[in-house]
Amino acid sequence: MENITIHISIPMGLTSLEDQIRNSEVGKHVAFVTIKTFSNPATHEAYSPDLEDPAIARQVQYLFADTPLIARYWRSLPALKWVHTQRNGVDLVIDSLKKNEAPPFILTKTPGDLNSSFITEYVLGYIIAMNRKIFEARESQSRKDWQQRPLLCNQNIAECTVGILGIGEIGKHIAKACKVLGLHVWGMTRTEHVVNNKCESIDNTVLINVGRGDIIDEDSIVQAISNGWLGGAVLDVFPIEPLPVSSPLWDLPGVVITPHTSGWSASPEFLAGIIKVYTDNIQRYITGQPLENVLDWQQGY
Ligand SMILES: NC(=O)c1ccc[n+]([C@@H]2O[C@H](COP(=O)([O-])OP(=O)(O)OC[C@H]3O[C@@H](n4cnc5c(N)ncnc54)[C@H](OP(=O)(O)O)[C@@H]3O)[C@@H](O)[C@H]2O)c1
Repeated sequence: MENITIHISIPMGLTSLEDQIRNSEVGKHVAFVTIKTFSNPATHEAYSPDLEDPAIARQVQYLFADTPLIARYWRSLPALKWVHTQRNGVDLVIDSLKKNEAPPFILTKTPGDLNSSFITEYVLGYIIAMNRKIFEARESQSRKDWQQRPLLCNQNIAECTVGILGIGEIGKHIAKACKVLGLHVWGMTRTEHVVNNKCESIDNTVLINVGRGDIIDEDSIVQAISNGWLGGAVLDVFPIEPLPVSSPLWDLPGVVITPHTSGWSASPEFLAGIIKVYTDNIQRYITGQPLENVLDWQQGY
């Protein structure tokens, strides 16, 4: 069995990661070096003075870090063999590659099935909230208004159709739950910039994006909602995160914005699941078995 030294930057909620791995079966084969990581208060960009130090950067062979840090520093880590991230979406790393570039290290990630039930709850929650006019009811309450007609829903949820772009782990989970509620479901794989400024009226339709921010043309969403072509949008992911305060989306009526939280949870079971995925992969690595949840650089997921 190989012994390895992991440089580790602890992301949100995973403070027990190091201890749990130390106390696990693989613990005696792993040493940790903590990487200091900060967030720029103005831009919220993650940076690490340690990874900017060439003497430290040269030593990093195994790394656990969040994707912004990996995207920012992988080119300056010449000895890098394997990086693991607690995230499922690694678009920031993919975006940092040149055309057809496949870096010489392995990137593993948390599989979507850990996020899928939380994302499904989020999507269904907003579908029901929109259909049942729950936001309007709250506004009406704030005015102490007792008018029934504006708060009646226009259709039973079983008359609604949900279109899902991307039928991977998460898309399939959402589809199953929607079917249980009786919604009509259709799915679609690889399509880019589906909502663009050539889009015709889809009036009552609400767009929910929990996938990748760059799949949607933001200006087109603003245009579609402002012109009444789109009934609303629930957006959890954005091409630039945090969403800049200057974005017109923040104040656009009918738009709900959440800070990339749809798939994440503070529940101990969820965090333990993330740690287990990594620990199991360390076990495979040090015993020379193939790793799981490896990113395919060509496919991008
Ligand atoms: N908001 C959050 O908190 C959160 C958390 C976890 C994951 N995510 C995001 O959720 C998405 C799905 O994750 P997953 O684990 O379900 O992925 P997955 O199992 O790897 O499946 C990806 C699916 O997306 C499809 N796809 C890829 N590019 C597409 C495109 N341009 N247009 C339409 N479909 C496309 C693929 O279709 P083909 O089979 O045709 O290639 C495949 O069916 C990812 O983008 C991930 O970043 C978000």
